[in-house]
Amino acid sequence: MRVKALHQLYSSEEIALRVAELAGRINHCYRDGQLVMICVLKGAFMFFSDLLKLINVGPEIDFVRVASYGHGDTSSGTVSLLKDVETDLAGRHVLLVEDVVDTGATMDFLLARMRAAGAKTLRLAALVDKVERRRTDLTVDFPGFSLSEGFIVGYGLDYAERYRELPAIYTIEFEDA
Ligand code: IMP
Ligand code: MG
Repeated sequence: MRVKALHQLYSSEEIALRVAELAGRINHCYRDGQLVMICVLKGAFMFFSDLLKLINVGPEIDFVRVASYGHGDTSSGTVSLLKDVETDLAGRHVLLVEDVVDTGATMDFLLARMRAAGAKTLRLAALVDKVERRRTDLTVDFPGFSLSEGFIVGYGLDYAERYRELPAIYTIEFEDA
């Protein structure tokens, strides 16, 4: 689908405030340390790095990359792993950091893998929680913003690999088909 216009939804200032609030809650939750923070590539990279700079419990970090196949703006529920973590997660406190949780299929897949890898605790931070579109019983432990509809880009998030560089978050208005 062709993009007609972008409309700003969350400014970079609003994002920074929300990220700082999440960091405060995460610091409190993991104040005893031993945290492994895992960035879900590519979309979460900007959120992850801004969040990480505010984490004061000395986390280790790692990265995973998944692909969920579907048409442009919806995921199909078929998820595959493109890059696994390199850290041994057995007995560790693991925090997955994702950009958007939509149906929940991607996070269900990753959480199951990390549980199988023996994580001691497993929690999820997501910048945007599309809670009304959830098709699983997954809950986001550290949600940034919740959104009921619309496809968003910017601040790491893409539409067909574009717009990741924008410092704010925008909804896309598509041209009529
Ligand atoms: P789920 O598996 O249906 O929960 O979809 C989650 C994945 O779809 C995320 O990792 C995002 O990459 C992508 N996604 C869902 N909604 C959006 C959006 O509005 N903008 C950009 N990516 C999105
Ligand atoms: Mg993603």
